[in-house]
Amino acid sequence: MAKQAINKIIDGKLIASQITDEIKKELSLHNNIKPGLALILVGNNPASEIYVKMKEKKCAELGYHSIVNRLSEKITEAELLAHIRSYNNSSKIHGILIQLPLPKHINEMNVLEAVDYRKDVDGFHPINAGRLMIGEKCFTPCTPAGIHELLKRYNVITSGKNAVVIGRSNIVGKPIANILLQKSKGANCTVTVAHSATAGISEFTKKADIIIAAIGKPEFLKANMIKKGVVIIDVGINRVDDPDSKKGYKVVGDVDFNECSKKASLITPVPGGVGPMTIAMLMKNTLDSAMKRIYS
Ligand code: GUN
Repeated sequence: MAKQAINKIIDGKLIASQITDEIKKELSLHNNIKPGLALILVGNNPASEIYVKMKEKKCAELGYHSIVNRLSEKITEAELLAHIRSYNNSSKIHGILIQLPLPKHINEMNVLEAVDYRKDVDGFHPINAGRLMIGEKCFTPCTPAGIHELLKRYNVITSGKNAVVIGRSNIVGKPIANILLQKSKGANCTVTVAHSATAGISEFTKKADIIIAAIGKPEFLKANMIKKGVVIIDVGINRVDDPDSKKGYKVVGDVDFNECSKKASLITPVPGGVGPMTIAMLMKNTLDSAMKRIYS
């Protein structure tokens, strides 16, 4: 008898396009609302350039008002803060995003704190981070919000399950751990956060029903580290050398997809998993801000 295919790919591209369609539908019902997003890019980081262009393109597709402010690598912190203040005061701008990382001479926390928390569609302001932790209404960082949405829309049973988050960044690891801990839909998990200093990481991942891999190490999670039926969300975007490819490189996640997909019940691919969700959730946060759904 042929072996039954039990594995399933989580299609982030499809869910992101559904969210985009939902936003378009909502906007068609509210002709007076034009969400506005200011995107600030400091310096010439090639990856940041690509991300900002993708965000700008999505804004155009949805009919949002968007401003891309490209600033010199040499800008002072005070000058950058002045740009942020002008967007804080603009009635046309509902969301402000400063693409990270910033040049080393700029204090990242000073910059994130300068954004009006009511326009903080990235969810990086300490007010939003704190409110997320205590389960209050807030802007949720886009990648973790996208992961949560994938779990909900794929009807993953999360309540009472063991979730292991690999990685403790402020952008992904800590916020997704806080989301999964909440007593709410698509959450209510027992959460473990593992990281680069965790000893015997396999002992944790082998017990996990859900794994969120966000450690930034190519193909870190192997099949011998997981149990059968686990749900795996791969947040990694890593460039590795690939002499077989024309470009000389390929993009892989933090999960060894070939190995792990054979044991997982659900798994996100890279690309086409979490990546498209991040931009979709940014658009959703910006719409929510324009509609004054988070802070009125
Ligand atoms: N750099 C890497 N990820 C992100 C993100 O989600 N938002 C911003 N602003 N910068 C990033």
